[in-house]
Amino acid sequence: MKINQILTLAAAVLLASCQPQTEEKTSSDERSDRSKMMIANMKLASDPHSYSKPNEARVTHLDWDATVDFDQKKIDATATYAIENKTGTSSILFDIHGLQIKGVKVDGELTEFQIGESRDFLGEPLEIPIKPESKQVSITYETAPGAEALLWVEGESPFLFTQSQAILARTWLPCQDSPGVRYSYNARVKVPSNLMALMSAENPQQKTADGVYTFTMEQPIPSYLMALAVGDVEFRAIGDRSGVYAIPELIDAAENEFQEMDDMLVAAEGLYGSYVWGRYDLLILPPAFPFGGMENPRLTFATPTIIAGDRSLVALVAHELAHSWSGNLVTNSTWDDFWLNEGFTVYFEQRIMEAVYGREHSEMLAKLTKQELIEEERDIREVQNLPNDTKLKLNLIDRNPDDGLTAIPYNKGYFFLRLIEETVGREKFDQFLKSYFTEHSFQVMDTDNFLSYLNERLLTDEDRAAINIDAWVFGVGIPENIPNVDSDRLEHVDAIVEAYANGTTSVADIPWDTWEYQEKYRFISELPESVTAANMAELDAAYHILDTGNNEVLFAWLEKSIRKDYAAAYPRAESFLISVGRRKFLTPLYRAMKETNKIDMALAIYAKARPHYHAVATATMDALLEVEH
Ligand code: BES
Ligand code: ZN
Repeated sequence: MKINQILTLAAAVLLASCQPQTEEKTSSDERSDRSKMMIANMKLASDPHSYSKPNEARVTHLDWDATVDFDQKKIDATATYAIENKTGTSSILFDIHGLQIKGVKVDGELTEFQIGESRDFLGEPLEIPIKPESKQVSITYETAPGAEALLWVEGESPFLFTQSQAILARTWLPCQDSPGVRYSYNARVKVPSNLMALMSAENPQQKTADGVYTFTMEQPIPSYLMALAVGDVEFRAIGDRSGVYAIPELIDAAENEFQEMDDMLVAAEGLYGSYVWGRYDLLILPPAFPFGGMENPRLTFATPTIIAGDRSLVALVAHELAHSWSGNLVTNSTWDDFWLNEGFTVYFEQRIMEAVYGREHSEMLAKLTKQELIEEERDIREVQNLPNDTKLKLNLIDRNPDDGLTAIPYNKGYFFLRLIEETVGREKFDQFLKSYFTEHSFQVMDTDNFLSYLNERLLTDEDRAAINIDAWVFGVGIPENIPNVDSDRLEHVDAIVEAYANGTTSVADIPWDTWEYQEKYRFISELPESVTAANMAELDAAYHILDTGNNEVLFAWLEKSIRKDYAAAYPRAESFLISVGRRKFLTPLYRAMKETNKIDMALAIYAKARPHYHAVATATMDALLEVEH
């Protein structure tokens, strides 16, 4: 499908109800313009995490002209927006956070502007006076030294990448930073001539001689999906419309690791409809990337820690690919509805994994998902004492949306959808989901609207009684009707763990080398209280776990080692924490040290590691380790 068709489709439902159709003689361009207008006309819910008032005046397109300055670690840019003054209001509001605004023009005329008071994590409102007929706003600015979205990696091969979700886009681009505000964009970016620039847009596959790159993103996207990366990367094709970018040292390994990307794309389309974004490429970032992956449209950003050498951690690619539908096409209205992005994506990820690798494999993943949910849910409720954070529908007013990033929206969301699938049957559920994505393409969705759609289009009274939507969506904790996950292989692992722990199986009888990563992970995470440092040493001697190339297994092993005072693992823990900045690994490892009287060790390692981390990670670790900055 082409963009015009997609947008037309997205607007069709709306159009049908609001005006007579004179479809026949309109060109596809006109149709596209009209569809974009329909999208720009939708009334949006108020978003406590944005100062903008898109129902009054809204952006529809961005032209971004930027120079990336590695010496001073800043971006100098002009953002020129096409705007629509919807109510004849006298000003348009943007979100900014630390940006130094150098000048503003409205329809080409220099204009005064106002920057309001700064608030924690929200940044500042930028207010620009406009007239009812104003069409364009142009903002010239530079980013601040500590701009939170940006990570400047120093060294022989410098690298810059952004991480905009949830509300960090405003630290590198003035924008209406609410998930419902979509705009298309073009960009011209100047970088040092030995580096390549990539964005969440149509991308180059080779470096240019002068370091100038141009980008177009035809489909309107919200600002949390704005992304830029600059580095010495190469491209390798995987399929006709997929490929991978990585630094020269990693490009061979990456090309091999992600060979199945195209199969995943085909499987995904088979489930829920055409992939509408053109290409699907993957960019391997430096290890400091604070997340596993980020679904930047057309170009997923990923941590290098998923390169295991044996393709065992590719579920992450399935996850980010799935966001091309859940999240990027149908987008959570505000961060309170985050589960609509992530829960749907975990469900879709599982379905892709099942289609490509089979049910036995995907059920092992589902079982680990359930285990993680049970552990984290208890921690949020009982240890952190935040029971309301175990509801799917969140209330993040006056809080950082980052607080909502727990296993709840992901895993509880997944099991809720799986329960619906199991209740109504897969065939009906798949049809429902396919229509859901098609009918709401390029629109926002909130929890109430989803539930109405679900009730109208899918569920019978009997289904509703079986599911108990209220308990799942608005209730605390994990409802009792959470689906069962059966995995003979993981149950076998559990039996071996138990036998090992009570002395009826010896180390030599553990079939470690025949296990897949999920089985190894399960074995380590299920080792009971009674296991000692001596046991850890014995296991390590037999299976060289500290030398594994699988970072998930290594991470689980390091966490256990810290909790069991298995000191031989500490040097590896230190080198891991210094080289890797993925928050999902950092938090449990530092927390394990803190909880086992090794705060000095934690602080000593953190002092060395902190300069390598992204702001998203240091914010969390500073709080955890009570470090002031
Ligand atoms: N969109 C998220 C990452 C994110 C969420 C960043 C909220 C900032 C705010 C991404 O799709 C994601 O979920 N990544 C996971 C991997 C996944 C396999 C669960 C991660 O990074 O661990
Ligand atoms: Zn996700």
